[in-house]
Amino acid sequence: MYGYAFYASIIICIFAASITKQKYKMYIKDLSLYEGKEITLQGWAANKRDSKGLVFLYLRDGTGMCQCVVSAEVLNEEKFNAAKKITLESSFSITGKVVKDEKQIGGFEVQATDINVIAYAEEFPIAKKEHGIDFLMDHRHLWLRSQRQWAIMKIRNRIIFSIHQFFQEQEFVQMDAPIFTGNACEGTSNLFETDYYGDTAYLSQSGQLYGEAMAMAMGKIYTFGPTFRAEKSKTRRHLSEFWMIEPEMAFYDIFSNMDLIENFLRRVVSDVLSECKTELEIIGRDNSILANIVKPFPRLTYDEAVKIIKGEQDVNGVNAITSLEDELKKTSTKIDEIKAEILDREEKIKVPGIKKGEIGFNQAKIDKLKQELNDLEEQSRNIPQWLNSARNFEYGNDFGGSDETVITRLFDVPIMVYNWPHAVKAFYLKRDPENSKFARGVDVLAPEGYGEIVGGGERETDVELLTAKIIEHKLPMEAFEWYLDLRRFGSVPHAGFGLGLERLVTWICKLPHVRESIPFPRMYGRLLP
Ligand code: 4AD
Ligand code: MG
Repeated sequence: MYGYAFYASIIICIFAASITKQKYKMYIKDLSLYEGKEITLQGWAANKRDSKGLVFLYLRDGTGMCQCVVSAEVLNEEKFNAAKKITLESSFSITGKVVKDEKQIGGFEVQATDINVIAYAEEFPIAKKEHGIDFLMDHRHLWLRSQRQWAIMKIRNRIIFSIHQFFQEQEFVQMDAPIFTGNACEGTSNLFETDYYGDTAYLSQSGQLYGEAMAMAMGKIYTFGPTFRAEKSKTRRHLSEFWMIEPEMAFYDIFSNMDLIENFLRRVVSDVLSECKTELEIIGRDNSILANIVKPFPRLTYDEAVKIIKGEQDVNGVNAITSLEDELKKTSTKIDEIKAEILDREEKIKVPGIKKGEIGFNQAKIDKLKQELNDLEEQSRNIPQWLNSARNFEYGNDFGGSDETVITRLFDVPIMVYNWPHAVKAFYLKRDPENSKFARGVDVLAPEGYGEIVGGGERETDVELLTAKIIEHKLPMEAFEWYLDLRRFGSVPHAGFGLGLERLVTWICKLPHVRESIPFPRMYGRLLP
């Protein structure tokens, strides 16, 4: 008897739970599962349109966007008026029937039977009109809600997920390096110092040295954490705080390291292509370039790369220097054409008796042309700098941002540049056994002008050479004794690399600047929001 009641109550509970669940945990991305059914969604008003007896609300809930139709014929006056008063970014929950409509974003709309406003929003500062970048950065906490920023963050999330999948599937062990450190990994010029119980600690520039110790314990490891560099210049590539993925592998040399980098990047980019189609479409990314990721990555020695930058060697018949000169000419012709068209349309608007519609049409064209003009003028300022830097590049130097731009504009896949002059690279890189002028470092440069996304290489195993390098770089020996122990106790060949997450997001999304690739960028001159 009691047994029966017990089972009956369990069934009732499951039933009740499923109703409750249906009512409160539904998301726009799943609308296709509920066609013809009544559901409840909650989120924010991304847009609103009124017409007689109808309010069209564009609801966004973080998983997608959908149109909700509120009708005075269905809802009572109080509810209908509440819907009518909804402002941009007000929060509300809405119940209604899911109806298929190919014309709508997402392919479905919700015909409301009930609506509850959670909070009316004050006038939202980010409106439809164009805002300058400083304004948007000051409002980053709100800007993140825009569709484009949403898409970029979803792509970033997918990249992070694929990074973990790739390494975990290959049985790398994720281990974490400390953020407070007592030594510099990547030179002393850009360290952030902080007080550590009366001593000086630095915020980690890289987890690598600890990664090497962990690889000697575990074989293959990766770290994935925030890293810090005081970069006192405003470039489109530099952040003060960025996330780095650093695998480190015992018994790898520079060549197996390059194989791993190539497989790794291919996997991550392929996953974004297959899993983030909507997001790539929202940001208008040309996928055909990303799809080239299946092609082998060209591997160039430093010497070969320098010849290309200086225009002494072509890539597929294209010369770095002359192609830039041509582009500069084309850009200035285009600038003149656009300026003339803007003037022409401005004159048209002034003609007496012109129709209102025609003014609007021309004004919209003028706004678009001005935007294009801005971009072209920036190009015409940049190209001479790139040219100057390429023409005057001195053999033996590290590549600067301009040099990376010059060479990577010629490629449609990432390239690997290896065997760098040891004098310009980090102290820990292994000397090339075939030519001691070089170190076995490798940089991966993203195509389309983006530049360095990965830095890595094979590590020096010779204690004497390492000690000499530490002295040469004026690093405090006592802080590196533990690191030298890794060579004293069972030293093995090993290698690794560091991928800057934001640099990768920036290239994959083809962003003009790294600041849009991270939720709250930290860079020179910015600490808020
Ligand atoms: O080339 P880097 O300095 O190499 C290292 O830190 C090595 N210890 C990595 C290793 O071998 N384990 O930095 C690695 C990557 C760069 O290629 C770039 O993608 C990114 O980190 N990076 C930055 N990203 C944004 N802002 C900055 N200021 C960056 N500095 C480096
Ligand atoms: Mg580097």
